[in-house]
Amino acid sequence: MFPQTVIEQFKAVFGEEQEIVVRAPGRINLIGEHTDYNGGYVLPAAIDKAIWFAASKRTDDRFVIHSLDLNDSFDSNHGEIRQQSQQSWVNYLLGVISEARKDGFKVGGLNIVFGGDVPLGAGLSSSAALECGMGHIVNELFGIGMDKMDIVKLAQRAENKFVGMQCGIMDMFASVMGRCENVVRLDCRSLEYEYFPFKSSEYTLILCNSGVKHALVDSEYNTRRRECETGVAQIKRSHPDIKSLRDITQSMLEEEKSNLPEVVYRRCNYVIGEIKRVEDACKALINNDLEQFGSLMYQTHDGLQYDYEVSCTELDFLVDATKQFKLASNQKDAVLGARMMGGGFGGCSINLVKKSALKSFLSFMQTAFLAEYDRELPCHEVALTDGVATIA
Ligand code: GLA
Repeated sequence: MFPQTVIEQFKAVFGEEQEIVVRAPGRINLIGEHTDYNGGYVLPAAIDKAIWFAASKRTDDRFVIHSLDLNDSFDSNHGEIRQQSQQSWVNYLLGVISEARKDGFKVGGLNIVFGGDVPLGAGLSSSAALECGMGHIVNELFGIGMDKMDIVKLAQRAENKFVGMQCGIMDMFASVMGRCENVVRLDCRSLEYEYFPFKSSEYTLILCNSGVKHALVDSEYNTRRRECETGVAQIKRSHPDIKSLRDITQSMLEEEKSNLPEVVYRRCNYVIGEIKRVEDACKALINNDLEQFGSLMYQTHDGLQYDYEVSCTELDFLVDATKQFKLASNQKDAVLGARMMGGGFGGCSINLVKKSALKSFLSFMQTAFLAEYDRELPCHEVALTDGVATIA
């Protein structure tokens, strides 16, 4: 359906052909959750669910934007670019324009039609895809000359400053820097990154969408950030050189345990363990040890559920159901790992599932979910793809 639909709709709406067609993918994260804003490592990938844009420059400074999925339109009418509370989806796009202009870049008006198949509110970063796609369009059409990392940072600033969500850099990085059949480990402090091939003839990645829209995520997310900062501030008293949880070892944390509020201790304990797990997971990939990789995913879920407390009953149910499935099917390697993915409080679980058991896995999970919650469980097999690019 895409990108043909955006091309046709662009013609229908604006009566001419677009100058550019851009694909901006959603992302998954294999391991390394809530580590990006703590200066740690993440291991995301871009996926075969994306937003497609058809766009052209205008001769004036108006922005006329059509969202096919929401069947909604925006027209800036020569007005100043500012936050629009009513059409919240527009903020992700206008934020990029506003931040690019603050950087001194000359960004004129645009006609845009976009649509795609990244499920909204499922934790696959449709918002980062919007921002990164827009960053790419602006860069190409106005000849700005940003490199890929500049686009990542511009997109993150749009989210932090214009939309007002204090997210880390992972989602934008994955959407821009993704590579076909690879995951990429990002050091969120130095911004150094390394690709790891992730392709198995035996195992595949499945997302199970809990259908819970992560409404709590913004406020709880910012609270988690503050709790981590509280931990860092306390430990800094005896270790003045530390800058973030990345610098804190397990033994430093244990030394300070009695001086920390119990909840802050648990948050820090999770993050320190998770940063280490990403390193261990990459070693497992190098050794081709998917079993070890999967067991780290289960450990991450435990940490997110009990210590970081960003899961929800539906996601816990889904992770638990994978263990039930292995027992019921008497195949302990049918699912190597499962965990909630992304910011939390809803969205998808990510599962590393044996291809030969896929059919029975899906049927078990969907039947169990229906019986428990009386609704369907959408599941998607994902492929890892390249990041944001012009396709025509
Ligand atoms: C959200 C944020 C990311 C990251 C994850 C948790 O997706 O946008 O920056 O912090 O949560 O890993």
